[in-house]
Amino acid sequence: MNRVRRPDLLDKVMSAQDAALLIEDGMTVGMSGFTRAGEAKAVPQALAERARMQPLQITLMTGASLGNDLDKQLTEAGVLARRMPFQVDSTLRKAINEGQVMFIDQHLSETVEQLRNHQLKLPDIAVIEAVAITEQGHIVPTTSVGNSASFAVFAKRIIVEINMAHNPNLEGLHDIYIPTYRPTRTPIPLVEVEQRIGSNAIVIDPAKIAAIVITNQPDSPSTVLPPDAETQGIADHLINFFKAEVDAGRMTNELGPLQAGIGSIANAVMCGLIDSPFENLSMYSEVLQDSTFDLIDAGKLRFASGSSITLSGRRNADVFDNLDRYKQKLVLRPQEISNHPEVVRRLGIIGINTALEFDIYGNVNSTHVGGTRMMNGIGGSGDFARNAHLAIFVTKSIAKAGAISSVVPMVSHVDHTEHDVDILVTEQGLADLRGLAPRERARTIIENCVHPDFRAPLLDYFERACAKGGHTPHLLREAMSWHINLEECGRMLAS
Ligand code: COA
Repeated sequence: MNRVRRPDLLDKVMSAQDAALLIEDGMTVGMSGFTRAGEAKAVPQALAERARMQPLQITLMTGASLGNDLDKQLTEAGVLARRMPFQVDSTLRKAINEGQVMFIDQHLSETVEQLRNHQLKLPDIAVIEAVAITEQGHIVPTTSVGNSASFAVFAKRIIVEINMAHNPNLEGLHDIYIPTYRPTRTPIPLVEVEQRIGSNAIVIDPAKIAAIVITNQPDSPSTVLPPDAETQGIADHLINFFKAEVDAGRMTNELGPLQAGIGSIANAVMCGLIDSPFENLSMYSEVLQDSTFDLIDAGKLRFASGSSITLSGRRNADVFDNLDRYKQKLVLRPQEISNHPEVVRRLGIIGINTALEFDIYGNVNSTHVGGTRMMNGIGGSGDFARNAHLAIFVTKSIAKAGAISSVVPMVSHVDHTEHDVDILVTEQGLADLRGLAPRERARTIIENCVHPDFRAPLLDYFERACAKGGHTPHLLREAMSWHINLEECGRMLAS
């Protein structure tokens, strides 16, 4: 079989059920998978089936979110004691918020760095989806790299899932580079978006491969919604801002390497660039969504670097069946490299991520609804925001049919502090916070970003807070009143 090109490994081929038996109660397991792309599929399913009969619990680390309802199945089977660093599943979310699963919400570049430094327990076993095992016994990942390379390096044993559903032509798309160890660590030698600095496959000792499982199950499609009037409005404001930056001589018409976060809003903003005057664009991002390929097809995007490819049903077959059309314009890297603070700062990334809410001073909450309930996790947004050339956050100005304002007096949880945030955009307008003091920021945000229904009450709050004084004026008894109203009456404004 040319998917397992090292003959002495062929006797490791076994069923998913047998491979799953290698995972024991209490183990730490590192699995492939990033934004619903390239996750190991058959072994976690078999593990969930087994746990329904014989309860067991593990710590599960992945790159980011899993597809094919795996987090749901594992949660329902009671397998997850601890989960990191990101998820998007509603069943798991509920278990996290009920305190049943201990969720560690991490910057996505940081998990393997903490493993490398033994600040987290190393995985006992890694389960990695692959398109092939090479002649050398090295692992060729599929539609994501995520944390797979370091999990495979750190784990004592490795289960490889060879997924026949993936186009074997994915081989050659990946660039696997793992940073060197301190105290002799060297700079990551990546100075251009399109540069390759590593190997095509994950280099491991093949003797660690304990099982090979042959699967044939596609990734699940992304759930991204098409652009609507509000997301189009956000895209328009951002494009006008970029035009002004070009006119002011701060950027060229190629802009800078673009990073776009997960979700419908970020995807819509990227789609907006198709009809923009910008040319020869590049992406240095985590997840490559439909918009990446729409921009390539439109002749706008020169090159895209990411850690995964997550496409809708509309785009999936077209891209993966015609991979040759795109392969020269793409690279997939470990998330540690796609999100690395050193590289993000060096390349001058324009980072566009989504907020749940932000406050009048520019602090951003991307993770906690009402300050307490986990949504998905911080993902890579913090990796990019702190180090970006431009840290941009976007959101619709209202949520839940107007019961919620996305701009509030004080955020109920802070993921990105005012110090990390340059630009805020809603469909109402754009606030450029660069070089502004807190009182100036507040006026800019209230004037430009707030929905008309909430503008006067927010201005009233700010002016009364200013009357009391302070560098960052607040009325502490009132600062959370909008969230308390929401909790008690279902609306942020009581009247
Ligand atoms: N309070 C409560 N709920 C809110 C809210 C607020 N202030 N703002 C939005 N919501 C709700 C929406 O109503 C929607 O609910 P629904 O699923 O019941 O319809 C949900 O949150 C998602 O919002 P939506 O407007 O559809 O945005 P999205 O799909 O683009 O997701 C985030 C937004 C913030 C949840 C998502 O981008 C995220 O998880 N970000 C953190 C990780 C990240 O940024 N990674 C980037 C690097 S890849």
